[in-house]
Amino acid sequence: MNSSITFAVSGACLLMALSTDVVRADESTIVLKPGDGLDIVEGNCAACHSLDLIQMNSPIQDEKGWTETVGKMVHVMGAPITEDDQKQIITYLSTNYSK
Ligand code: HEC
Repeated sequence: MNSSITFAVSGACLLMALSTDVVRADESTIVLKPGDGLDIVEGNCAACHSLDLIQMNSPIQDEKGWTETVGKMVHVMGAPITEDDQKQIITYLSTNYSK
């Protein structure tokens, strides 16, 4: 991958992480549906942006869509999520947040 793209993405991520701090009071009101794997989603998917992106994208997503989205977060955005956790995240999202 082009290293300047990697740099730009991690820079954007850092900015988002910082701005998330400022609005943490609001963000904490986002409660995802209870289910197997919820703790893994909360532990891995809130590092760079709010979990409301999951809620907002659910009307257009299914298992295939979530597989692609999680893959994009890992391979393009650089999220450090293990294969095993990715599988559980995809199962949780396609069970609870699919069209
Ligand atoms: C390493 C940082 C990082 C992590 C960790 C991360 N994301 Fe993202 N995500 C991004 C960036 C950057 C964007 C694009 C910018 C934006 O829309 O805010 C994004 C956008 C999204 C979107 C909007 C639609 C799209 O495809 O752009 C969804 C949905 C999403 N992420 C879901 C997730 C889920 C689910 C996880 C956990 C598996 C996750 N993200 C973990 C960085 C990350």
